[in-house]
Amino acid sequence: MTLNRRTLTTAIAAASLGALLPAAALAQKKIVLGFSQVGAESEWRTANTESIKSAAKDAGIELKFSDAQQKQENQIKAIRSFIAQKVDVIAFSPVVESGWETVLREAKAAKIPVVLTDRSVNTKDDTLYVSFMGSDFIEEGRKAGRWLVEKMKDQKGEVNIVELQGTVGSAPAIDRKKGFEEIIKADPKFKIIRSQTGDFTRAKGKEVMEAFLKADGKKINVLYAHNDDMAIGAIQAIEEAGMKPAKDITIISIDAVKGAFEAMIAGKLNVSVECSPLLGPQLMSAVKDIKAGKTLPKRIVTEETIFPMEVAAQEFPKRKY
Ligand code: AHR
Repeated sequence: MTLNRRTLTTAIAAASLGALLPAAALAQKKIVLGFSQVGAESEWRTANTESIKSAAKDAGIELKFSDAQQKQENQIKAIRSFIAQKVDVIAFSPVVESGWETVLREAKAAKIPVVLTDRSVNTKDDTLYVSFMGSDFIEEGRKAGRWLVEKMKDQKGEVNIVELQGTVGSAPAIDRKKGFEEIIKADPKFKIIRSQTGDFTRAKGKEVMEAFLKADGKKINVLYAHNDDMAIGAIQAIEEAGMKPAKDITIISIDAVKGAFEAMIAGKLNVSVECSPLLGPQLMSAVKDIKAGKTLPKRIVTEETIFPMEVAAQEFPKRKY
């Protein structure tokens, strides 16, 4: 395109007008959200990442996404980089609960609001973040415990449980253990005979279950896995040991991802407690509310249910993750 003098003058005038009208220009400016994700350790996490990315796109929010590969130091680095880039809002799902005060204080000093999604932090100062949205992990553990107590109500002797814990120090690992124990302690026949982390991954779930089977084999009556991926890994280990998952060993897990439904339909997993990863739309509307100066609730709890294997085939077509 060739510019004549008149178009050039008009273009320069428009450009200087833009510089003189920061308020109007700002109204058009996209909101920038910095999001630090835990990693890609599970089917749940993949669905959560997808939910955040697509919701940001739908909401017209510019997303700066960073994958921490399950390392807290990477999350801290990402948050510091978001601060340096002066993003409008920072959101993150903290890999572990503790050790966030310093970086959260830095965000506060930079006047950048922080939203916690999925997992919480255990800071004493709750002014360091605006809102925490996600599941009630203690309640998820309780749901798993209640299902087991009901299932085994007529069982006389001991019920030996092995537990595959999530990532050490993470909110879901701490809380799901707590909620489950709170329920089963009412009856001394329930005994957790082994409990170890499988880091929320299939590979680790399989590896740790192999070790449990080597040590206790037929003594094991129940497996309680803090997520579906570890349960699916453990199912492989149980089959390779010549036992029948969901029959020889009752298996309870958490998340209710599609992989768990497939396992339930195949008769290999007894029950999965729902934990929804679809937090993207809620996060984007929170980000917009913050920018509009609205006050958000400090805690937004996701509503969830529980799916025993008997309903899996009927529920499967409705599942979104
Ligand atoms: O924080 C949510 C948990 O993290 C999910 O249960 C698990 O699958 C994920 O990795």
